[in-house]
Amino acid sequence: MENTKTTALKISGLNKALGKKHILHDIDLEAYKGEVFGFLGPNGAGKTTTIKIIVGLLSLDDGEIEVNGFDIKKNYEKALAGIGGIVENPEMYKHLTGKQNLRQYARMRSGVTEERIDEVVKLVGLSNRINEKVGKYSLGMRQRLGVAQSILHHPSVLILDEPTNGLDPAGIKELRDILKELAHKENICVIVSSHLMSEMELMCDRVGIITQGKMLGVYTIEEMINANKNGNLDFELEVDNMDKACEILTGKEFRTDDTKIIVSVDVENSKALIAEIVRDLVNAGVSIYAVTPKENKKLEDVFIEMTNSGGVQIG
Ligand SMILES: Nc1ncnc2c1ncn2[C@@H]1O[C@H](COP(=O)(O)OP(=O)(O)OP(=O)(O)O)[C@@H](O)[C@H]1O
Ligand SMILES: [Mg+2]
Repeated sequence: MENTKTTALKISGLNKALGKKHILHDIDLEAYKGEVFGFLGPNGAGKTTTIKIIVGLLSLDDGEIEVNGFDIKKNYEKALAGIGGIVENPEMYKHLTGKQNLRQYARMRSGVTEERIDEVVKLVGLSNRINEKVGKYSLGMRQRLGVAQSILHHPSVLILDEPTNGLDPAGIKELRDILKELAHKENICVIVSSHLMSEMELMCDRVGIITQGKMLGVYTIEEMINANKNGNLDFELEVDNMDKACEILTGKEFRTDDTKIIVSVDVENSKALIAEIVRDLVNAGVSIYAVTPKENKKLEDVFIEMTNSGGVQIG
């Protein structure tokens, strides 16, 4: 991401009720050009509702949304001109080729040239298949054609609701790479939603966590992973004499399971501390078979803890 961030989308105090149910509660969010931003939340969290409001498919009850500085209520057309997205299945004509579909769509938008069509086709990696009928496309190719269609009019914000749903691993990777490229090279603000943290971890620069219609927090992927590490690293020790080892470790932070000792050391100084522990044990005659750093907490665990506890403090 660039150093000077340009805000593409700004949401403040967004509230929405559907029927009698208050669905979205005071959602705030700022997303920048050049980043992939993820809405991460479990089923029913309010991701689709938020996205529908941003793309103009639903009205908002309260709050403000600005796209490129244009208020969606006061300057609807200018705000909407900055947005491209796929919320429900994009409309495609199966009996037409990919290119014919794009031309068809371009007719409804002003100022989309044939050159621009070729450009977006290239961006989504469909150049060699664009003259085939869409009926022959795989789901992944249709999804990429949908992305091409969504960016024809040079939007600053591209929003995709659960874009990798139903795609196979190869299709997911292709789409992920394209979306990252659109953000990082074309300077678009790409917003995606998902309930899969593993996917967000690979695709996004920052993630906003939504549960029960509330935005719990916005974090960089790094912050999320570091947030729950609590400053300690765990190492597993396999030794020949557990009792003796525990005796030597008295005063240190450790626990045991059936076959191993797990020592916890300060992350800042972990190498020196673990070396000292190993030295003490060996000097006391304990044989060490293995020293294994425990895997750091996965984003998935962080996410589950965040959504259970209503958020974690960072920094
Ligand atoms: N038309 C509607 N009328 C009443 N409630 C609705 C309506 N549409 C959605 N909801 C409710 O709003 C909440 C948020 O739904 P939304 O579809 O935005 O969640 P989501 O995060 O997209 O979930 P998913 O991961 O399942 O797609 C849910 O509790 C849902 O039942
Ligand atoms: Mg949804």
